Amino acid sequence: MQYYMAPLEGITTWVFRKAYHACFRPMDKYFTPFLVPHERGSFTHKEENEILPEHNQGQKLVPQIMTNRAADFVRTARALEEYGYEEVNLNLGCPSGTVVSKGRGAGFLRDAEELDRFFDQVFSEIGVKVSVKTRIGLQQPEEFEDLLKVYNRYPLEELIIHPRVRQDFYKNHPNMEVFGMAVRESANPLCYNGDLCRTEEIAAFHQAFPEVEAVMIGRGILKNPGLVGEAEGRGAADAQSLRTFHDRIYQEYLSLMPGDKNTVFKMKELWSYLGTILENSEKCWKKIKKAQTCADYEAAVENAFRNFPEGS
Ligand SMILES: Cc1cc2nc3c(=O)[nH]c(=O)nc-3n(C[C@H](O)[C@H](O)[C@H](O)COP(=O)(O)O)c2cc1C
Repeated sequence: MQYYMAPLEGITTWVFRKAYHACFRPMDKYFTPFLVPHERGSFTHKEENEILPEHNQGQKLVPQIMTNRAADFVRTARALEEYGYEEVNLNLGCPSGTVVSKGRGAGFLRDAEELDRFFDQVFSEIGVKVSVKTRIGLQQPEEFEDLLKVYNRYPLEELIIHPRVRQDFYKNHPNMEVFGMAVRESANPLCYNGDLCRTEEIAAFHQAFPEVEAVMIGRGILKNPGLVGEAEGRGAADAQSLRTFHDRIYQEYLSLMPGDKNTVFKMKELWSYLGTILENSEKCWKKIKKAQTCADYEAAVENAFRNFPEGS
């Protein structure tokens, strides 16, 4: 089984990926959070940091682009090729209102014919490999039938399916029936994404779909960075690896961000997921949440790691 790290804007940054890659079972592929093409054709400072090869050493990294304009996609893909990337990914899943209203992300799923024209132009102009990360529709799961017909017309490197519609955001359950239809009918290799947070869920997925060779995991890794090692039978993440992982991220952000508050804020976002791995997680999380300064934050983290489950 191949394991990919899902892109999460603001969370799975290059700082996070680098620390993860050094501390846990490396992922077979990583994806950057979405890059939005700009009029002037260059990358913002933040985007450049995400894609700089020296920030992503040893990782198989795929930059993700979010647009509904073929010319912008092609121009951005070419720029990424110059950085050495061999594959780029198209975001067809982002459910945010501002994105969808512009017909991007999951908003682009509204019109299968327009999507077809987009791919037609992209594949006639591009040399780099293209993969797609898609939801199964905007409103209704039935929309996926037409969308899959479009995907089947093009030689995608991979089709990553998060089987929810945009209306679900992250609620409800992934639609495994529609995913099963894709397994039967996709002309392109598939990767599954959605709600794999425990080893039992990964094993059950593998049993249900043994022919699917890749899964992408987001929140499961944030909650338990040792998840993939555990799924491969290497035991749970120990307290020391988690501590090293945390400290690497914290120190890197401290060196990059102006002022304590920004780093503490950023770290709290991570703990909102990671906290669930601790015993007394509610109590520890409350202390972390209250911290405003680095000194308070560091004391709360010391306390949290003292509460790490026995035997880890
Ligand atoms: C805060 C947040 C940010 C996300 N950012 C992106 C993104 O930049 N690109 C993308 O394709 N998906 C993004 N996603 C979706 C995830 O990649 C993934 O599809 C989703 O979390 C479901 O997988 P999971 O259940 O394994 O977490 C984001 C999700 C969340 C919660």
